[in-house]
Amino acid sequence: MYAQMIKSEATQDDPEQLAAFQARIDAGEKIEPKDWMPEGYRKTLIRQIGQHAHSEIVGQLPEGNWITRAPTLERKAILLAKVQDEAGHGLYLYGAAETLGVSRDELTEMLLDGRMKYSSIFNYPTLNWADIGAVGWLVDGAAIMNQVPLQRTSYGPYSRAMIRICKEESFHQRQGYDAIRRMAEGSDAQKKMAQDALNRLWYPSLMMFGPSDKDSVHSAQSMAWKIKMNTNDELRQKFVDQTVPQAEYLGLTVPDPDLKWNEARGHYDFTDPDWTEFYEVLKGNGPCNTDRLAARNKAWDEGAWVRDGLLAHARKRTARKMAAE
Ligand SMILES: [Fe+2]
Ligand SMILES: [Fe+2]
Repeated sequence: MYAQMIKSEATQDDPEQLAAFQARIDAGEKIEPKDWMPEGYRKTLIRQIGQHAHSEIVGQLPEGNWITRAPTLERKAILLAKVQDEAGHGLYLYGAAETLGVSRDELTEMLLDGRMKYSSIFNYPTLNWADIGAVGWLVDGAAIMNQVPLQRTSYGPYSRAMIRICKEESFHQRQGYDAIRRMAEGSDAQKKMAQDALNRLWYPSLMMFGPSDKDSVHSAQSMAWKIKMNTNDELRQKFVDQTVPQAEYLGLTVPDPDLKWNEARGHYDFTDPDWTEFYEVLKGNGPCNTDRLAARNKAWDEGAWVRDGLLAHARKRTARKMAAE
């Protein structure tokens, strides 16, 4: 199905149809699953929503790692709820992608064999409890920055999924900030852990907005289609401007000696992440790429009997229902 869709993309879209489609988007109308859409729009959305769904699912791994070791029962309950939310986000997003004609199984297979990506941030390890606070604060914080504008994206099912997801993401960000605040206000050893977590996660968080605008291949068309609402650099700047005062409040130092407020621009000047590292992680050479994919493949293989059982059960029920009618 997906291969067929890629092939059909070669066929030219009718210019009149394309103009009418663009006019609907410009007028702020939502595009719904049964509406006509250019193949490029469909394909870009499948890639973007699919990648987003995979990120929610793979993103459970670094945090799931700490559920059994949360320092208190309260923190454990909060983390458990957050990780469950991420599973839910993955499901809404797979549901939104399915309306574009690709099945969840196809998307999962493309994740498992490396044809589709997930956010590179989840290829970094969570080494201690402070990392869990930093992930909520920085990673969910960056995710919100990306996702709030997507509530207004042109594709109806995606925009509706984002509205619900954003409500939950703001809880994730707050619980992270609260957790790291406790560490930052704690003993010297705890303060050191909080600082160390910020040192390691700062640049990977900045990378979450994608490459610099001058190297971003998909931007212009995606912006015209309102699949992307802001450029990568705009969002990255917004994130830095919001996060630096939070770090200051915590008494932590952002690991960037050149970071400073630029009065004339009304923004912080900051050092870009190391893009060589970004592309290496994307290619599969980050610290945890192999582990993350191995964990997803293992879960998929070991869950085969559950899927088979559910399908057999559904078939039996349908057969019984039909016999009774
Ligand atoms: Fe999420
Ligand atoms: Fe989240």
